[in-house]
Amino acid sequence: METSLLTPSWGNSQPWTFYVASGTTLENIRKDWIAKNKEGIKGNSDIEAGHRNDFSDRCQKCMNEIMKLVSETVGNNGQPLWDANVELFNAPSVVYITIPKKRTLFNLFDSGAAEMSVMAAAKELGVDSVPAYEAIKYPDILRKHMKIPDDEDIVIGIALGYEDKENALSKIKSKKLRLDEACHFYE
Ligand SMILES: Cc1cc2nc3c(=O)[nH]c(=O)nc-3n(C[C@H](O)[C@H](O)[C@H](O)COP(=O)(O)O)c2cc1C
Repeated sequence: METSLLTPSWGNSQPWTFYVASGTTLENIRKDWIAKNKEGIKGNSDIEAGHRNDFSDRCQKCMNEIMKLVSETVGNNGQPLWDANVELFNAPSVVYITIPKKRTLFNLFDSGAAEMSVMAAAKELGVDSVPAYEAIKYPDILRKHMKIPDDEDIVIGIALGYEDKENALSKIKSKKLRLDEACHFYE
């Protein structure tokens, strides 16, 4: 987590706060998470999730491709992935990143960089990660179990742990854009 504090930010504003849940706290969150999902309650994240149609055509194409790949790889219409989401990937720790409610778009941008710092630093230590909207879609549960002030927005949850290489979910290998699709060089 100390490495994550090195993340650059607009004017060194450092908008992030990290809440790291593990042990009994995470087990209690997980219990409530599974129960609320079972009730079929829709997500109500602090940060607006947006609708598919809000994404550009290229983004929607990429999103459709990964959903197809997930279904083909794990079967049952991707259900095993959704089940894993509900269980917070069975992770032993989840890092939640918040930013102040009083914020700019660059605060949000910077918190994404902090997210990547957490994951890169974890990887360096041999720890795998999944960033997930699904881990922050019920902010009321997170506020019940951790002291997260109302003037902060919970942006993302990062499940940390060790990849189960035998699990079908580990076989999902996302397809990335080709260099010429996403990168333009000028000399
Ligand atoms: C902001 C953000 C939110 C995400 N939310 C979820 C999620 O709720 N559930 C999930 O399984 N994966 C989630 N992901 C992971 C992406 O689906 C994943 O990064 C993408 O499919 C590419 O796969 P890769 O990271 O293995 O290359 C999220 C990633 C980001 C950056």
